[in-house]
Amino acid sequence: MDTLLAELVAIAGQEHVLTDPDLVAGYTTDWTRRFSGAALGVVRPSGTAEVAAVVRACARHGTPVVPQGGNTGLVGGSVPAPSGGGGAVVLSTRRLRRLDPVDTLSGQVTAGAGVTIAELRAHAARAGLEYGVDLAARDSATVGGTIATNAGGIQTIRYGPTRAQLLGLEAVLPDGSVISRLGGIQADNTGYDLTQLLAGSEGTLGVITAARLRLWPAEPPTLTVLAGVPGIEAAAALQAEVRSVLPGVRAAEYFEAPGLALVRAHTGLPAPLAREHPGYLLVDAAASEDEAERAVVLAPLQDGAVAMDAQARAGLWAYRERHTESISAAGIPHKLDVALPLGRLAAFRAELDEVIAKADARAIVFGHIGAGNLHVNVLGPDRDDDSVDDAVLRLAAEHGGTISAEHGIGRAKAAVLHLSRSAAEIEAMRAVKSAFDPAGLLNPGVLFPPRSSLGGTMFA
Ligand code: FAD
Ligand code: MLT
Ligand code: ZN
Repeated sequence: MDTLLAELVAIAGQEHVLTDPDLVAGYTTDWTRRFSGAALGVVRPSGTAEVAAVVRACARHGTPVVPQGGNTGLVGGSVPAPSGGGGAVVLSTRRLRRLDPVDTLSGQVTAGAGVTIAELRAHAARAGLEYGVDLAARDSATVGGTIATNAGGIQTIRYGPTRAQLLGLEAVLPDGSVISRLGGIQADNTGYDLTQLLAGSEGTLGVITAARLRLWPAEPPTLTVLAGVPGIEAAAALQAEVRSVLPGVRAAEYFEAPGLALVRAHTGLPAPLAREHPGYLLVDAAASEDEAERAVVLAPLQDGAVAMDAQARAGLWAYRERHTESISAAGIPHKLDVALPLGRLAAFRAELDEVIAKADARAIVFGHIGAGNLHVNVLGPDRDDDSVDDAVLRLAAEHGGTISAEHGIGRAKAAVLHLSRSAAEIEAMRAVKSAFDPAGLLNPGVLFPPRSSLGGTMFA
């Protein structure tokens, strides 16, 4: 057996070092099936000390480490590079299952990196509190993975993205040292905020093992509205109008007729409204019982559905949340997650049609419209053909938008990071990476464009 693998077995136990290709396969292809790579093996440590020992062993052998949580990421960051030559070790955090009792005095909780978002949300709910992040991948996406990607989700307009929930964390750095800040002190002004630096670092600076998280007073949605709209401009205007009169709007989501058609074909769900519409706006609100407020919400709707009990609300949400699986059932999508100023959505959407037509492809567009975040899913181009990705991301940048709203950069967008970040910013980020990980062993190829393509050699 390879010496490193023998060391990993000594650390985590034979059962938790996987080398059987059938078992390893589930860890080396990402959720989209667009990205896959080769691994020496998968190691599943059970606690922080084991994670540190694994990272130290890999560092001694000069072997890259790819941290992985639920493997629901959509930018190829959770799997090794195809050119890894079988050399990387996938470090699965799923056994980091610590979940402390909720601290109701401070409204905080400490959770291990491998706890899923559904588990965390249920744990908080049992204490009468709420975790601010929710997303359709809740049953698999982990605390560590959502911090590493700074995940957004369906409640971002209410509670902010993952970094806004984060009060501290524990992580293993590339040299195997452990940093820990789980005390939950909010008033803490003692130098660089390493917690926030690791949020959104996509496994390139450290392996997150646990986090101290803010919880919110429970505020269950009482009202879900699905409204047909003539297009994205109307959807943006309607969500703004609803939010201006209702303080408790938690989600404002958008999808279009082609996406709805895919969802219905894949799930067998009936049409949601009496008539078909080019676009749909879905709003969740913690509304008061006051009928007048409801009337305000419903007034602008020409064709809409309103749900107030949990089952009916879940029925309306299915049309939105089942987009991802329905698109994947139709092919391997190029998933482009952009955000734009709300006032530019309509112009971007119109020009997007031209870009997609030129590429002889089709696009399914949906997303978190309240945050200006659109998921452009392109079906048609080959998996390795990035030309449509480049064209769509350039268009977003030209309209003052960002090339990643919530999914991160991963491997998918590393080469076009410059569309959203200046050369000075990229150099500063590289300097941080280099300070934490001088040998470039943590998730190489993620986030940064290979230096080789720019005439250098770092992190490629
Ligand atoms: P993984 O996919 O395993 O990893 C993602 C990245 O984080 C990788 O770069 C990995 O190296 C790194 N990483 C993972 N764990 C650690 C750790 N402990 N320490 C350091 N680095 C780590 N995303 C959104 O933002 N909003 C959504 O609404 C949303 N909805 C989704 C719906 C579906 C159906 C699916 C399949 C995905 C969705 N996603 C969404 C994308 C995905 O769920 C998020 O990116 C999520 O944060 C990934 O969590 P994970 O545990 O699966 O991480
Ligand atoms: C969503 O909002 O449903 C996700 O980000 C998943 C996706 O983009 O497919
Ligand atoms: Zn999303």
